[in-house]
Amino acid sequence: MRTVIVMGCILGSLAGWGQSAKKPVVKKSTSSVSPVISSTNRGKIVYQKFCLSCHQPDGGGVQNLNPPLAGTSGVLGSKTRLIRIVRNGLQEHVELDGEYYSNNMPPFKMLTDQQVADVLTYIRRSFGNKATPVYKNEVAQLTVKKRNSRVLHLFKLLGLMVTGSRYFY
Ligand code: HEC
Repeated sequence: MRTVIVMGCILGSLAGWGQSAKKPVVKKSTSSVSPVISSTNRGKIVYQKFCLSCHQPDGGGVQNLNPPLAGTSGVLGSKTRLIRIVRNGLQEHVELDGEYYSNNMPPFKMLTDQQVADVLTYIRRSFGNKATPVYKNEVAQLTVKKRNSRVLHLFKLLGLMVTGSRYFY
């Protein structure tokens, strides 16, 4: 009886194996749109929702109020700096390409890492700009770093409290 069951199992699995081998291989549909182009397209939607009111549809900005994003050294420059500006905002009113802007840029903490990457890719590749794209993992790296430094800060604070309490008692 046992051998029959074992044989049955072997035959069954062989039959199953044969079948699965015959299954046609479904090719993954290769999208004709490159990842950078789709990131740029998604970024445009983020831009229209969160940035356009200040930086304008053509990235031209508003004189003395909001800086332009077209052809400026900041937008074409360090990606780390750009990621930080979108995440933390900018209220330094420092000179940007020889001009000063009096408005404040708010922080955009609600945007996902992907959205930050997309909107930065969009501004770096629109309005005549031709800079390299920003990837989600580049944004994520900075987000993790920030979280780690917060945890570290908490530990330092705890350490201070412990040493402080030793001092008092
Ligand atoms: C309320 C208006 C406002 C909104 C909304 C806004 N910004 Fe800004 N942005 C500013 C101002 C003002 C500055 C300059 C601040 C300063 O000089 O302290 C700035 C600076 C910048 C800079 C630095 C420019 C440079 O030349 O270095 C970048 C990049 C930028 N914004 C991108 C964005 C993106 C992307 C969004 C949308 C997610 C956005 N901003 C939304 C007002 C805004």
